[in-house]
Amino acid sequence: MARINEHYLKLQAGYLFPEIGRRVSTFTDANPDADVIRLGIGDVTLPLAPAIVEAMREAAFAFGTPQGFRGYGPENGYDFLVKPILEHDFAARGVSLASDEIFVSDGSKQDSGNIQELFGVDCRIAVTDPVYPVYVDTNVMAGRTGPADDDGRYEGITYLPATAENGFMPDPPSSPVDVAYLCSPNNPTGAVASRENLESWVAWARKTDALLIFDAAYDAFIQDPALPHSIYEIDGAKEVAIEMRSFSKRAGFTGVRCAYTVVPKALTGATAGGERVSLNGLWSRRHATKFNSVPYVIQKAAAAVFSPEGTKQTREQVAYYMANAHALRDGLGAAGFTLYGGEHAPYIWMEAPDGLSSWDCFDKLLREAHVVCTPGSGFGAAGEGYVRISAFNDRANVDEAIARIRKAFAS
Ligand code: MLT
Repeated sequence: MARINEHYLKLQAGYLFPEIGRRVSTFTDANPDADVIRLGIGDVTLPLAPAIVEAMREAAFAFGTPQGFRGYGPENGYDFLVKPILEHDFAARGVSLASDEIFVSDGSKQDSGNIQELFGVDCRIAVTDPVYPVYVDTNVMAGRTGPADDDGRYEGITYLPATAENGFMPDPPSSPVDVAYLCSPNNPTGAVASRENLESWVAWARKTDALLIFDAAYDAFIQDPALPHSIYEIDGAKEVAIEMRSFSKRAGFTGVRCAYTVVPKALTGATAGGERVSLNGLWSRRHATKFNSVPYVIQKAAAAVFSPEGTKQTREQVAYYMANAHALRDGLGAAGFTLYGGEHAPYIWMEAPDGLSSWDCFDKLLREAHVVCTPGSGFGAAGEGYVRISAFNDRANVDEAIARIRKAFAS
């Protein structure tokens, strides 16, 4: 008999985005003529930049030649990608990392879900609330929690409420925690961590011997050059932090799939007996065992993001989405909606008007404005009373959505 992993049975409802997809399909089946504008899941809409397409085309054609054909690639990524990552994403910001500290993968969603495999099942986890659901659900699946309460909070996880009062950037926990997840620019609230915020987290981790998992999937959307992009811009972070980066939003790779995780060699965890063990070594072992590298063609595409043309073209795409975010902020803000985020992130975090719950606001916007957003409560109990609006769409749709949302709530 194949006994199941019963921790899966603790999971609340379905994964958020398929659940939204089901509700939207039910609506569109019943209203086939409705012109639905999707500002729900943060999925890119612009076509791949020409420099990236050209790199993929060249790499694909090379595969059809004896000289260009390749089989399995190096598990951690080809040098032609790892080198520009080190140079552009880190050295350019004063951070020195080695190539064997970078692990190229097929997505930060997978990496942020898989990374918890390195930690003991009794490790105490902290997350901000609201939070990207993958961090929580994967720890539930691994058996690191008890059941969920009526608010959907799992026993054993420390939730750090991210509220308007703390600028959606909570302080480190005061109770004992072993591993804490941070995401900046933040999904879902669109808040961004200041240098001081990150310094306080690194200082806390060093002091309490905790580990930070820093998700920087949205770093390309930071507009203020003084804000840190990497946790390693903070002194002492290499001994306490893992970082994740993605090409998904920065270069339109949600359907292409490429990302990377940084596990510095200075980073260690402890055995039950107190012996320190390199997390780089453990992640390397896991990667080599469970992963056979990102396809060559895709790594060539990712490397093209760092070429002069690729950099220019992908920055223009990010600027396009940020112009949408600013339009949402301006258009909805002028109509009196209470909004956060959208300054250094492609997400607007909007208070549901009229005291509506997140799902009621979602339903109203879908039914009356034919606009899909994401209910804030889907990201955690502290997200109740908010909805997230994504700036990933074309400008005409964003402008139309603004007009329709305003109309739906006009008194
Ligand atoms: C989101 O909408 O939160 C993201 O698209 C999810 C993801 O990146 O996996």
